[in-house]
Amino acid sequence: MSHKITIEAFVLSAATRAAIEEACRDRRLSRSQMSIHDGGLPAALPYYSANHTPNLIVVEEDSDDATMMGQLEKLAEVCDPTTKVVVVGQVNDIRLYRTLISAGVSEYLIGPISARQLLDAVDMIYSDPGLKQRGRVVAFFGVRGGVGSSTVAYNAAWAIAQLGTDDVIVIDLDMVFGTAALSFNQDPKQTLGDAFSNPDRLDATLIERFISRVDDRLGILAAPANVRGFAMIDSAALEKVIEFARGLASFIILDLPHVWLPWVKDALVLADEAVLVAYPDLANLREAKNLSEYLGELRGEGSKPKLVLNRVDPARKTQLTAKDFQEATGLVALQLVANDRVLFETAANNGQMAGEVNANHKAVESLKALALALGAHAPQSKTRGAHAGIQLPDGVLRLWQYLTTKR
Ligand SMILES: Nc1ncnc2c1ncn2[C@@H]1O[C@H](COP(=O)(O)OP(=O)(O)OP(=O)(O)O)[C@@H](O)[C@H]1O
Ligand SMILES: [Mg+2]
Repeated sequence: MSHKITIEAFVLSAATRAAIEEACRDRRLSRSQMSIHDGGLPAALPYYSANHTPNLIVVEEDSDDATMMGQLEKLAEVCDPTTKVVVVGQVNDIRLYRTLISAGVSEYLIGPISARQLLDAVDMIYSDPGLKQRGRVVAFFGVRGGVGSSTVAYNAAWAIAQLGTDDVIVIDLDMVFGTAALSFNQDPKQTLGDAFSNPDRLDATLIERFISRVDDRLGILAAPANVRGFAMIDSAALEKVIEFARGLASFIILDLPHVWLPWVKDALVLADEAVLVAYPDLANLREAKNLSEYLGELRGEGSKPKLVLNRVDPARKTQLTAKDFQEATGLVALQLVANDRVLFETAANNGQMAGEVNANHKAVESLKALALALGAHAPQSKTRGAHAGIQLPDGVLRLWQYLTTKR
């Protein structure tokens, strides 16, 4: 997710400045404050003699090793003990690297650096070592209401868990009309309403208690789904819930309702993956284009939202195609899920997932392929080909999907 830290950088080159500016635009730093100064490491020393140090200082330097070490020692004298330092240097030398790390520098990067290198360094420095694992957060959002976003989210979550390696928690954020409990045939005693009613009290143990267990690998944090309550969600409380959930499972699936509120936008920006679910018609195309442009800017290059087309039926000539969506949004659909009312309604009425109703249905295969494309892991021993869940590159997966569903 994102870091809330203060960062000050002292750069020497335009390339380093550009990389840092690009990193600032990434969602991982969307809540951080960054300022960039010229002058490199030598300029940082007089500056911090007069100013407090931030959480993280990035200094670029190009002097010889002895001069640099002397300057870093002086910097350490004026640094707050919690301040971390990342050095951007020119010399690719493992001994220098080791000396710097043992002197307390958090990371040494060799220029020219990329935005991604800096972001990875920040992730490494600020990830919580106390957490056993940090689940991957995937947010699902229907670009229009009723397009099947929750259905796709739940079935993808189920498919991830079914592969047998990853644990999954589904968080149903449609507080009033959410259907996760119904869909997974659960009768939860406690819901997200309890979690959001007193966010200050939340901790991992409480979140674990609020989770209804569908099976060993799959749990849900259900919505209260009651019109009498007006449980409010705000971004800070939601982030707290997600952070605790991330310590409990390797995938966190967010089922977002089709409303446009600040916390929904924040969830779509901060999630590791934002999946836009659309029905192939013109109105959906317009919303998908708007959302993909907006979220693409906020999430940064390399972290664009993903697109899933749902209820696809090539026999309906009125439907738009994946190619139309690609031309309008620039997004290649990650999966096309076939339309089948009987399958999905039967599943919904039984409190089952589509794969439990018909494991070999092409829509079920698409949802399994979606699970793999989102990074779900298949156990090594069972892999015999694409059907057994080998993790294939997106392009190959889509080709396989095409070959197995279009005829
Ligand atoms: N691929 C599909 N084929 C046929 N029916 C589907 C498919 N996917 C979803 N549906 C049906 O569409 C209806 C709406 O699904 P769902 O509640 O998942 O949509 P949603 O986008 O989450 O809606 P909301 O905007 O209310 O959150 C359900 O009846 C579901 O069974
Ligand atoms: Mg929904």
